[in-house]
Amino acid sequence: MADYEELIGVAVRARENAHAKFSNFKVGAGLRAASGKIFGGCNVENATYGLTVCAERVAIFKAISEGERKFEAIAVVTDTETLTPPCGACRQLIWEFCGDIPVVLSNLHGQREVLQMSQLFPKPFDSSNL
Ligand code: THU
Repeated sequence: MADYEELIGVAVRARENAHAKFSNFKVGAGLRAASGKIFGGCNVENATYGLTVCAERVAIFKAISEGERKFEAIAVVTDTETLTPPCGACRQLIWEFCGDIPVVLSNLHGQREVLQMSQLFPKPFDSSNL
């Protein structure tokens, strides 16, 4: 788990920037690219609700837009007793852009759980189905 502390730290700091004025549910993500760079992301809500982008997807889009194409792990941080797994839309995109990486769930009280994407998203639709 020590391997993931830096990643979790980036997610904790990104979470502080969450724009979650409608749900008040702040989420932070940290995505480690194969280059070694870590990209943070937070959820960004808006008045239509439906155009909200989750923390995980913000981190992925930031990394992709910076030229990264290979990823090693993603962390998701919330301030909840029960750790927060990525939503269905995020599972699809984590799978497509990152593959079977570890997903590190964490809260602000030091609880952690690591799941592989293949556990969270066992029968994916992806480019191999096209
Ligand atoms: N949210 C995330 O950012 N990531 C998740 O894994 C779960 C949900 C956000 C979306 C919305 O802004 C708020 O949490 C409540 O659903």
